[in-house]
Amino acid sequence: MGKFFLGVVVTLAVLVLGGLGFAMLGFFPTAANIEPPRWERHLAMSAVDSSMERHAPRIANPLPATDQNLEDGMKLYTMNCAVCHGGLDRKPASLDKSFYPPAPALVLHPPDDPEWHIFYTIRTGIRYTGMPAWDKTLSEESIWKITALLSRLEKLPPTVQDFYKNSFGIAPGDEEEKKEGDKKEDHDHH
Ligand code: HEC
Repeated sequence: MGKFFLGVVVTLAVLVLGGLGFAMLGFFPTAANIEPPRWERHLAMSAVDSSMERHAPRIANPLPATDQNLEDGMKLYTMNCAVCHGGLDRKPASLDKSFYPPAPALVLHPPDDPEWHIFYTIRTGIRYTGMPAWDKTLSEESIWKITALLSRLEKLPPTVQDFYKNSFGIAPGDEEEKKEGDKKEDHDHH
């Protein structure tokens, strides 16, 4: 039994020292300008999702999704989020590929998570990534407004859709129509 425990302790010590040595001798990669491999992305995403499942309170958005709140959400998003996640004008962000992991294009691919999930992500950020925690910068009300917008980006009420189009020249849904049009053109060419 004593030998067994000694074996366990020695193995653990070797692992810990090996890990420390690996890091201290500079083998640990620290560059952010490459894409994470698929397995790492999958593992990390599952860990983030599980942590959120465990920690995030299941709260409903206390603000009604009025036109005004959604339009405020657009302004807040543009000022705080577009630089990494891409503009509401559907242009890619200047920094989207500059993080490890990269920042997802939230306007082109809006999150389909429930609002409590999105709210928690924005409020607390995601550790070891470029996603900041916004609880010290934005009020809860502002975060809920952005949350309301992101979770409704593809089903905005017509008045908000008009506001969107006037402000950004293009509205969600336009792109799909355009793509459909392109496809049709392609088809006509061949
Ligand atoms: C400095 C860059 C940066 C800014 C600014 C930023 N984010 Fe992020 N965000 C990231 C990165 C990088 C990730 C990817 C993290 C990951 O993959 O785990 C991320 C992830 C997210 C996610 C999770 C997406 C998913 O697939 O689950 C949401 C939601 C989000 N951000 C919302 C926002 C909102 C809203 C704002 C503005 C209030 C914002 N972010 C501002 C860099 C940023």
